[in-house]
Amino acid sequence: MKTQDRIHDQNYRQAMGRLLVMYTQIDYLILRAVAERIADAPDDETRLMLAKQVGDESRHVRIQQEWISRFGTDPTPIFGARQQAMFLTHFRSLDWLNFLIDMYVCVEALGSEAVEQIVPLADPGTRQSLATPLQDEVDHVAFGLACLRRELAGLSEQARQDTINSIPARLDYLDDSLHNMGVDVPAMFKAVGADYQAVVHTVLQRRQALMDSLQQLRAA
Ligand SMILES: [Fe+2]
Ligand SMILES: [Fe+2]
Repeated sequence: MKTQDRIHDQNYRQAMGRLLVMYTQIDYLILRAVAERIADAPDDETRLMLAKQVGDESRHVRIQQEWISRFGTDPTPIFGARQQAMFLTHFRSLDWLNFLIDMYVCVEALGSEAVEQIVPLADPGTRQSLATPLQDEVDHVAFGLACLRRELAGLSEQARQDTINSIPARLDYLDDSLHNMGVDVPAMFKAVGADYQAVVHTVLQRRQALMDSLQQLRAA
């Protein structure tokens, strides 16, 4: 079926609607977690960038909410109040370095990589609704990775190696947390016609590329 015809397929609409609700909720939670970091960011430039991101995420939430309502699909949240609180508690508990890892390597870089995999399958309206958000996510990832590189460069050789070595376990933990929340992510992706294994493969490739680029710091 052509992507422009998918809009008439009720099963597709409901399935894509659920993914859009999840993406919108995550953007909203990112907004909240990043906003809380503004007060104790390391410097003014970082504060300005965090504040810009809060504005961007707010716009993403608006764009997606409007599209979901025009799309006419079920707006029921995927994450309940308890799950949202867990997300915020986790990010609140982190020092700046681990915040950068969890927020920008995991949620922003790998999360948006997963969303990117959905774009070619989406109907034109949904694709349009994702264009601005996904473009902004590229900026957020660039900002977060630049901060992370700066923090890593300021560490001793041993601490830098230990931190880089800790990243895969952190990413696994967050991935497990998402799956343990009772959200059947594979089923949600498959329901829009995605090859879930291929999505996972692409995300893992991105993860490896990110790790490789951080490892270069070690050699430097
Ligand atoms: Fe976003
Ligand atoms: Fe973002």
